Amino acid sequence: MRWCKYVKVILVLLSATIFTVTIHKVPYGHFKDLLNNSVVERLFHEEPCACMEHCLAASDDEWFAEHFRKDVPPALSLNNSVLPNHIFKWWQSLQSTRSKANYSQVIKELFSVIPGEEWYRDASPSRCRTCAVVGNSGNLLGSYYGPVIDNHDFVFRMNKAPVQGYEKDVGSRTTHHIMYPESAIHLDNNTHLVLLPFKTLDIQWVTSALTDGSIKRTRFKVIDKLQANKDKVMVMHPAFMHYVHKTWLHIKSRRSYPSTGFLVLIFAMHICDEVNVFGFGANSKGTWHHYFEKTPKSFKRTGKHSGGIEHETILELHERRLIDLYMGW
Ligand code: C5P
Repeated sequence: MRWCKYVKVILVLLSATIFTVTIHKVPYGHFKDLLNNSVVERLFHEEPCACMEHCLAASDDEWFAEHFRKDVPPALSLNNSVLPNHIFKWWQSLQSTRSKANYSQVIKELFSVIPGEEWYRDASPSRCRTCAVVGNSGNLLGSYYGPVIDNHDFVFRMNKAPVQGYEKDVGSRTTHHIMYPESAIHLDNNTHLVLLPFKTLDIQWVTSALTDGSIKRTRFKVIDKLQANKDKVMVMHPAFMHYVHKTWLHIKSRRSYPSTGFLVLIFAMHICDEVNVFGFGANSKGTWHHYFEKTPKSFKRTGKHSGGIEHETILELHERRLIDLYMGW
């Protein structure tokens, strides 16, 4: 039925055009312009995604357009692993180790264990992928966000985040768990492990942890044999981490780099159509702590990360209605 309508409209437009060309002797070049007019364009224009509210990557917000670079691959694949020299140098400087492994060899070994395909290149007008990014803030306690969080297509959790015993506030589903060796926990068979590599040794660790368990220490003792589904493992691209650092946070200092939570948020913005954010920031009393700490102690929120700039950027994204930040309790 829809196509019938299109065919009729095209016929009417064509007849009108031929009529105009004949009567007014419109030159041939203008004939093409007539066909390109906005009526025709609008007829065939489809929404970039199927979400009711908005499609994130297609936002016309200028500030967002200055920051968002669709072309930067979020995850490593067999075909995109080569790093430009300046990015490699930056990445190597994040966490120093004694290991002098060869990056290309490490990548080769990685992709002999995990899939080498490019993930999530499936944006389309018929897709509305909603994602919940769940940070570890104590402001989740008493929030009753559990059902809202579980209602998303993808649920991202990170580091040591547990769900058992906290379901009413944090939900129970996890589709993606983001971690680095020192923050790793075992996963079930349905969850994607997303490794955040802060050094080459971290990539070696994931290969080892999914196979023979030969690496037992990175910066300190780590899980040597990890329970996780090898076919669902992905590794955040070092070039993506560099892009978040430079383009989103404008950080010049060599000593700091983005936090897990901020990296995951931008990662989600690249692979989802709608992003909602939970468990970030202080609680209503101004305390920065984890929801799973039995005796909450406020921690310094910056450390190696630019907590202030990250928080302001998250608020900016929220105010511009690019994401929804749930403030918690
Ligand atoms: O502490 P951890 O790094 O495991 O927490 C995961 C992420 O959750 C952090 O990187 C940070 O972005 C976010 N977080 C927060 N406020 C807190 C605790 C965590 O924004 N009080």
